[in-house]
Amino acid sequence: MENNARSSFTGKIGFVLAAAGSAVGLGNIWRFPYLAAKYGGGIFLLVYIILALTFGFALMTAETALGRKTGLSAIGAFNSLNKKYGFIGYLASVVPMIILPYYCVIGGWVTKYLYAFLSGGAAEAATDTYFGTFITQPVEPIFWFLIYLIATAVVVLLGVEKGVEKVSKIMMPILVCLSIVIAIYSLFMPGAIDGLIYYIKPDFSKFSITTVLAAMGQLFYSMSLAMGIMITYGSYMKKEVNLESSVKQIELFDTGIAFFAGLMIIPAVFVFSGGTPEALGKGPSLMFETLPKVFETMPAGTIVGTAFFMLVLFAALTSSISLMETVVSIVCDRFKLNRKLSCLVVLILSLVLGIPSALGYGVWGGVKIIGMSFLDFFDFLSNSVLMPIVAFLTCIFVGYILKPKAVIEEVERSATFKRKKLFQVIIKYVAPVCILLILISSVLEAFGILKI
Ligand code: PHE
Repeated sequence: MENNARSSFTGKIGFVLAAAGSAVGLGNIWRFPYLAAKYGGGIFLLVYIILALTFGFALMTAETALGRKTGLSAIGAFNSLNKKYGFIGYLASVVPMIILPYYCVIGGWVTKYLYAFLSGGAAEAATDTYFGTFITQPVEPIFWFLIYLIATAVVVLLGVEKGVEKVSKIMMPILVCLSIVIAIYSLFMPGAIDGLIYYIKPDFSKFSITTVLAAMGQLFYSMSLAMGIMITYGSYMKKEVNLESSVKQIELFDTGIAFFAGLMIIPAVFVFSGGTPEALGKGPSLMFETLPKVFETMPAGTIVGTAFFMLVLFAALTSSISLMETVVSIVCDRFKLNRKLSCLVVLILSLVLGIPSALGYGVWGGVKIIGMSFLDFFDFLSNSVLMPIVAFLTCIFVGYILKPKAVIEEVERSATFKRKKLFQVIIKYVAPVCILLILISSVLEAFGILKI
């Protein structure tokens, strides 16, 4: 992808689309709604939006500028700017290796649902036990995981990102439209209004440090931050492209899709299972259990459902491709292997690392790591531990070692930096302090030392 992509980002659209393709994925459609439902609805949404406009904006700008300034991806970028801080690049590179396997397990679930809808199983998919039965089986989750993983690897191997980009241009707008249509439909179901209120009206009594923690982890994940991806994409960006407004567009797109996903799912949870804490705190299964029920009641629901899972699959694929591409290029460079071999190595590694996540709700359901299933643990390790560490180090590096001026100069190569002051304050003071506090509390909580 390196060479192809470097030449293909001819203008702003190229960069924005590629970055948005990586950013918009399961994080928006699957992860955001279940976190919002679990962590207090409106208050989570509010915290998330505030964080996106401040932390998200500052970090994405910093990462993109580091990439564009050096013309290198994460490891090279940090190394070339300051040898002593090259380790941040390595640390950032570990994150996609942890996310990729379990991301593909969930991608496998989506593939299974698409297959079910295509093969006349829509009604069955809407039953209460369908999802639970599926993920507890010993073979099926692995089978679909493997299919999804291979599909991702094939695209990475063929390097058809030009094709992917072209398809993105068509698929992404359809995804947006379809999400809006389904969201509106959901909202008109009797009883949905309570869900809407829960989702958009902040209830400050539900605020806690876990809300911020979850929102921040989600922000990094959803915007593909703190793992070197935006640095790489920034390195493909031309100097005359307006960096600040590109970042703004990506944020808007990413947050917009997440918002609509919440509108599709949360009111529907209220319709089908009431707003009970159990229903809202369901976690990873939320999208898979609620949406098929919505489709079941919809006129032409099977067609809408099929289209929906097809688009989600596509959004997920563009993200997992960017994850695998990053890992493959690291393996290529680090071990001096050719692309084919690197791809194979990454495929096998992901398979081995993903199997525990695929079986973690069934056969290996009894195995828990600090009280979590494998998938939850990998999700926690990447989102709540490693990404905050990388984000913290990036802020320190940009704020105090490299100095914000370097980033500001890079942004101002193309246009005036409108939110310059905000950027400086966040990257130097607000972000490092908050991230550190959040990191410490999340780790203490996971080990049961702190109760929040
Ligand atoms: N941002 C993607 C999503 O929301 C996930 C992802 C994370 C993709 C990291 C690439 C890198 O689904």
